[in-house]
Amino acid sequence: ERQEARPYNRQRLLVVANRLPVSAVRRGEDSWSLEISAGGLVSALLGVKEFEARWIGWAGVNVPDEVGQKALSKALAEKRCIPVFLDEEIVHQYYNGYCNNILWPLFHYLGLPQEDRLATTRSFQSQFAAYKKANQMFADVVNEHYEEGDVVWCHDYHLMFLPKCLKEYNSKMKVGWFLHTPFPSSEIHRTLPSRSELLRSVLAADLVGFHTYDYARHFVSACTRILGLEGTPEGVEDQGRLTRVAAFPIGIDSERFIRALEVPEVIQHMKELKERFAGRKVMLGVDRLDMIKGIPQKILAFEKFLEENASWRDKVVLLQIAVPTRTDVPEYQKLTSQVHEIVGRINGRFGTLTAVPIHHLDRSLDFHALCALYAVTDVALVTSLRDGMNLVSYEFVACQEAKKGVLILSEFAGAAQSLGAGAILVNPWNITEVAASIGQALNMSAEEREKRHRHNFHHVKTHTAQEWAETFVSELNDTVIEAQLRISK
Ligand code: G6P
Repeated sequence: ERQEARPYNRQRLLVVANRLPVSAVRRGEDSWSLEISAGGLVSALLGVKEFEARWIGWAGVNVPDEVGQKALSKALAEKRCIPVFLDEEIVHQYYNGYCNNILWPLFHYLGLPQEDRLATTRSFQSQFAAYKKANQMFADVVNEHYEEGDVVWCHDYHLMFLPKCLKEYNSKMKVGWFLHTPFPSSEIHRTLPSRSELLRSVLAADLVGFHTYDYARHFVSACTRILGLEGTPEGVEDQGRLTRVAAFPIGIDSERFIRALEVPEVIQHMKELKERFAGRKVMLGVDRLDMIKGIPQKILAFEKFLEENASWRDKVVLLQIAVPTRTDVPEYQKLTSQVHEIVGRINGRFGTLTAVPIHHLDRSLDFHALCALYAVTDVALVTSLRDGMNLVSYEFVACQEAKKGVLILSEFAGAAQSLGAGAILVNPWNITEVAASIGQALNMSAEEREKRHRHNFHHVKTHTAQEWAETFVSELNDTVIEAQLRISK
């Protein structure tokens, strides 16, 4: 049966990520409906012809009963997905707790939560134990489905313990790990109570990848300073064994966005938006409602701009799409109320009977609506306080071939290193600077917009998600071959 599924003898790729690229909704005791979420990673791997990708991850739902688990596994198998079942308590401690309340803020330079500053607090320890347990559960599922020759690609901060678990099962497994967030300065990583254990587990991988050279450098410094290992131009060495460390900046499937702009539904949608906001410049923010995205800072900068530029007040609108995320984590709940309060205040202050300056939506948009919105936007505002890469900036650029709008981009997003030449780079903490760059963007000449857009559009078109995935996996294959050669010498 497996032979049949692999007519071209393609190499199998097991992609392991916390979340599967589908959302599952239970329809009955043994029936499920699935919706594919076509994020960057999914389209990247669909485009890679040399590999036959399978996904292993959490389905995002609690399925306590065996009947439900069996039915869901069966439905997912048709989409080449394999679920890891995590119960509510594990999700609470591992996902809400250790991943999103500890690692996520720390890796984005927001520090450890106050109550966990003391390494000995009970919650920290039980959350770390749950993290390790969850990673072991992922490893069990990988091990069960692994066939000799497979490449195993682990993703993100949720699974830093996974490379070690996998190598313990089988030291010959080809294991890569890629971090989608920043890796912070070693001085920040040092504060984490479980700093050494996590680094050592990641180092069990053959290849470790980051979005930017800086993140890779921070990781190597953490290994040399905290673990006392040797950093080399290739990576980190521990008693003769090399873990290769390198930068692999991700991209998007730009053609998918470009093609979407020709779909009648999108054209219609663009027409409606243009009519709706006629006579006003459109500024856009699209973010998960996350503290790393700097949404309050962005809105305050917009307020300052309106304050200082009375003539623009009824000529510009800010559309902020804030996609709810991790809503069980208290920090995220606090942020939601904070953003609502600021938006309400500014709309109260500058709104008129017929228009408000900020349209804030706590929801996601479907792909076509999003493309239409990107295409009619004059100025996009990406003000992340820290961001691994930030693909919203790439998506916006991909949809701007006709309009050539301006991208205001945080210098703390990984994307600043690739789109910096075309964007207006800002320090999102400096509200005065961001307000001034809003003015600069709105007043920019057509020639300058064209020049800046050309640079960024070229980059987005030539650095695709597909190329990113191919490069990582072929580098992983090469790394393993080189290591074998070294041993046999
Ligand atoms: C970031 C992380 C991803 C994560 C995504 C959505 O981009 O790097 O690993 O999947 O946020 O967050 P969620 O917690 O909903 O999976």
